[in-house]
Amino acid sequence: MTARVRKAVFPAAGLGTRFLPATKAQPKEMLPVVDKPLIQYGVEEAMHSGIQNIIIVTGRGKSSIEDHFDVSFELEQLLESKHKTDMVSMVRNISDMIDISYVRQKEALGLGHAVLRAKELVGSEPFGVVLSDDIIASETPCIRQLLDVYEYYGAPVLALMEVPKDQISAYGVVDAEPVMDNGRQNRLFRIRNMVEKPKAADAPSNLAIIGRYILTPEIFQCIETIEPGSGGEIQLTDALKYMLRSRPIYGLKFEGTRYDAGDKLGFLKATVEFALNRHDLGAQFREYLKNLCIR
Ligand code: G1P
Repeated sequence: MTARVRKAVFPAAGLGTRFLPATKAQPKEMLPVVDKPLIQYGVEEAMHSGIQNIIIVTGRGKSSIEDHFDVSFELEQLLESKHKTDMVSMVRNISDMIDISYVRQKEALGLGHAVLRAKELVGSEPFGVVLSDDIIASETPCIRQLLDVYEYYGAPVLALMEVPKDQISAYGVVDAEPVMDNGRQNRLFRIRNMVEKPKAADAPSNLAIIGRYILTPEIFQCIETIEPGSGGEIQLTDALKYMLRSRPIYGLKFEGTRYDAGDKLGFLKATVEFALNRHDLGAQFREYLKNLCIR
């Protein structure tokens, strides 16, 4: 029987340079899409997938993430005194949401390095990794989709998505063969090889790794073994490639829409589409957009 996945690691120590100047003094994880910080979308996805403990890997200047998931006595008192009970429960729900621990990554030395910082808190159990830049809207939460594969095969699983060739060099890219399995046909792959941020001409396929992973604890030793790779950073993709020598790794083309909210255009797309889907804002916002003279 495979061990249950209870924990998910959220690397959040990155400098957010793609979003300057907004991220000069504010973590990109706290940028709101409509009215919810980026990272909360990922936390809710993990929670709805059955994850019980979140480990956030933070760095300097990221304390507002901790404050966001903490109790805000002053705010709750103020709202209570104004009898804004709906708002009190909304604010309290965030701090009651899920058990969260924090660990610091002192230097931004790469995604693999960030995940390694969570080693002690994860211990010897399988765990998820969520990159909160990637917001995924789907009927079944993306992590849940990966967990279904993990629970069947007992092996690491990565989220995959086809991306156009001119964008492929921004991703980890896999070489993979489809696994024929009832129901998951064409979605499930066994990974043969992978490379972090290849040049378009060298990319082994158009299947990119998206920021959701189910990993087994052997990954920590793999991260400790590898050398810095793309961009001089300790890359999670390189550690996974190393792990492939000793165990199978699967990839799932998940069902759903992914927004790269760490990128300005992706962030705008997420904002517009999420606002259109909101029952309290959607109708008015749709009217507004219809009346914009866009040519
Ligand atoms: C990271 C990973 C990369 C993956 C991407 C998905 O890159 O290193 O393999 O494809 O996330 O969003 P980053 O976007 O942090 O450079």
